[in-house]
Amino acid sequence: MIRISHFSTIAWATIAASAIAPHAAAQTAATANSCLACHAAQTDARLTAPAVLFTQSDVHRDSGFGCVDCHGGNSSAADKAPAHDIGRGFKGKPAGRTVIGTCARCHGDAEFMHRFAPRQRVDQATEYATSVHGKLLATGDTHVATCASCHGAHGIRRVSDAKSPVFPTNVAATCASCHANAAHMNGYTLPNGSPLPTNQLADYQKSVHYRALTKGNDLSAPTCNDCHGNHGAAPPGAGTVVNVCGTCHAVFAQKFDTSAHKQIFDKGCVECHSNHAIVQPSDEMLSTTGRGVCAACHTAGDKSDKGSVAAESMRGDIARLKSGLDQSRALIARLKNAGIEVGDQELALREAGTKLTLARTEMHAFDPRLVSPIIVDGTRIVAGIDRAGQDGIAELRYRRRGLALSLGAILLVVVALALKVRQIDRRQNRE
Ligand code: HEC
Ligand code: HEC
Ligand code: HEC
Ligand code: HEC
Ligand code: HEC
Ligand code: HEC
Ligand code: HEC
Ligand code: HEC
Ligand code: HEC
Repeated sequence: MIRISHFSTIAWATIAASAIAPHAAAQTAATANSCLACHAAQTDARLTAPAVLFTQSDVHRDSGFGCVDCHGGNSSAADKAPAHDIGRGFKGKPAGRTVIGTCARCHGDAEFMHRFAPRQRVDQATEYATSVHGKLLATGDTHVATCASCHGAHGIRRVSDAKSPVFPTNVAATCASCHANAAHMNGYTLPNGSPLPTNQLADYQKSVHYRALTKGNDLSAPTCNDCHGNHGAAPPGAGTVVNVCGTCHAVFAQKFDTSAHKQIFDKGCVECHSNHAIVQPSDEMLSTTGRGVCAACHTAGDKSDKGSVAAESMRGDIARLKSGLDQSRALIARLKNAGIEVGDQELALREAGTKLTLARTEMHAFDPRLVSPIIVDGTRIVAGIDRAGQDGIAELRYRRRGLALSLGAILLVVVALALKVRQIDRRQNRE
């Protein structure tokens, strides 16, 4: 599948040798790399950049590889012509499919790779071939991503390096270098013939996922490759990734799978939550009016539309528990401020809060009969909190009354004392 050109067999001999003695190779690279020396001394940035990047930090350099391991040629020759000797396998600048072959020659060779990185996968090129990028490249389209578009060619870093272009917090910018570039993506279309959107990054930046990843430092929140695959495991392509949400939101997916919508929706969760601009869900979404997502397909107020009836019923249930919970929270906070012991009630509040979350999850089966028992449980807990809260209020009143009484008594004593003092004063004056 991957075309390995004839000269690479010669370069392969160099690699095989360096694989046996990587340290010896590293020394050669450091002491006698004429490629590096001459390229670093050039004035054209196109020619110097590879040398500069390679010297700064490169996972291949660290393993003892040099320029020739990708480009071929003779790194002991001081002059350009013998260094660029085609007879020594020099192949210049790889482009298009040649890039894949350049990288895959090592990365697709299990035996070779296991000597350096025993646990690393060796299927990047075969996976890549199944992706939209790989399929289009095979037809000669060079606008698509190759290994070098995502990883770079010089100064390649480990994927766990925070400066790597494929580190979770950098992936979106890497993909967007093409996907947000309207000129670059010009001419591509969706299956329905409309132009391929270039707003994925802008939309993703509005999402709860982006916020969790960048503001919450939650590296488990998805970025482009978590939904679309790195190389093709879930081939980058619309339609094939709609089930991806369930890999992380398993409980929601289970509920959804039991629902009437499961058979009907082409895009699963995406029908209601969208794919890139997934915003913070709210109770307002559960409705056939206003910002309600059910409105797209169910008719408000139509009693014969079971979906509409279900939406209003579940919304009412959830709203009831939520407002009850809000009131109890305010009450308990007031008592706590006043110094009344409310530890038990705070625990119960948390339990009722869990019920509310549970109801919003259970809602994804879109069956009100499954939501209402949870609401009943939650409301019972809230009622208990309220009772305890009222007792607390009574205690507070009692304490206040007690405080007022003792304040009054103290005041009386003070007044009496003052009178007494004045009486004594007068008596002394008279004497
Ligand atoms: C004495 C200087 C010199 C040496 C040594 C040298 N190069 Fe070059 N290289 C150049 C110059 C100058 C160019 C610009 C194109 C040209 O003049 O052929 C270039 C171009 C290239 C290109 C880009 C070719 C293209 O198609 O755009 C690659 C890749 C390259 N060199 C790799 C190497 C490698 C690998 C080695 C070592 C085996 C090496 N060079 C040794 C001077 C050198
Ligand atoms: C891991 C493989 C690899 C190594 C090692 C490597 N290169 Fe490259 N090089 C590439 C690939 C792939 C490209 C094409 C990059 C692209 O299309 O963005 C390239 C492109 C180039 C170019 C052309 C740049 C341009 O923009 O036209 C030069 C010059 C070059 N390499 C020189 C070197 C030199 C000098 C070294 C050693 C210091 C080196 N390369 C090491 C893979 C490698
Ligand atoms: C569309 C972008 C993209 C392309 C094209 C791409 N990669 Fe990757 N690559 C990634 C991402 C993203 C990761 C994973 C980062 C992570 O695990 O967090 C990765 C991981 C890797 C790893 C680490 C081991 C692994 O498989 O997780 C290697 C090695 C690698 N890629 C090599 C290649 C090679 C070789 C090619 C070309 C055949 C290639 N990549 C093409 C984006 C890409
Ligand atoms: C000469 C063989 C060889 C070639 C050619 C080669 N690699 Fe590698 N690469 C390796 C080896 C070996 C490692 C593992 C180094 C280690 O883990 O110490 C590696 C590591 C990597 C890593 C880091 C994986 C990690 O552990 O995070 C990436 C990314 C990568 N290569 C991408 C590429 C790309 C892209 C190309 C083509 C432009 C390429 N490689 C060409 C041998 C090669
Ligand atoms: C070098 C430019 C480039 C980079 C970088 C790039 N892509 Fe692409 N991508 C393309 C082009 C061009 C297409 C072809 C568009 C088409 O056929 O609709 C494409 C197609 C796709 C498609 C299929 C779209 C469809 O038509 O259904 C997805 C999904 C995709 N890329 C995701 C990604 C992800 C995720 C990343 C980053 C990990 C990425 N791409 C990096 C250029 C790029
Ligand atoms: C939470 C998962 C998720 C994340 C994160 C994600 N995507 Fe997507 N993406 C999807 C789904 C699902 C579709 C298919 C939607 C459909 O069929 O309508 C899609 C569709 C696409 C398409 C096809 C064209 C389109 O817009 O419908 C491209 C291109 C694309 N995504 C690129 C990206 C890029 C680039 C990023 C990162 C900036 C990204 N995606 C982040 C899930 C995701
Ligand atoms: C790689 C794992 C992963 C994938 C895939 C994923 N998510 Fe998420 N999602 C998260 C994480 C992590 C959070 C943020 C933590 C949180 O708020 O629970 C989150 C948050 C959310 C939220 C906000 C939840 C809340 O209560 O604030 C929604 C809604 C959501 N995701 C929907 C989706 C949809 C729809 C998809 C598929 C298109 C999807 N997710 C794909 C991991 C993922
Ligand atoms: C028919 C529309 C619809 C579909 C399909 C759907 N959701 Fe939701 N989702 C909603 C609504 C409405 C809410 C807001 C519920 C509320 O707050 O009362 C919501 C809320 C959420 C929340 C936040 C729950 C919370 O505690 O605030 C997550 C996470 C979520 N959905 C994930 C998913 C996932 C994953 C899928 C696919 C398996 C999915 N949704 C499918 C309509 C839908
Ligand atoms: C993309 C369109 C679409 C959206 C959005 C949508 N539904 Fe539906 N829903 C349907 C279709 C189509 C059916 C099956 C036709 C029917 O039985 O009425 C259905 C069926 C139902 C059913 C089962 C009715 C029965 O016959 O038992 C319920 C309950 C339901 N939907 C609730 C909701 C709720 C709640 C929302 C919003 C959170 C929602 N739907 C959003 C299209 C949608």
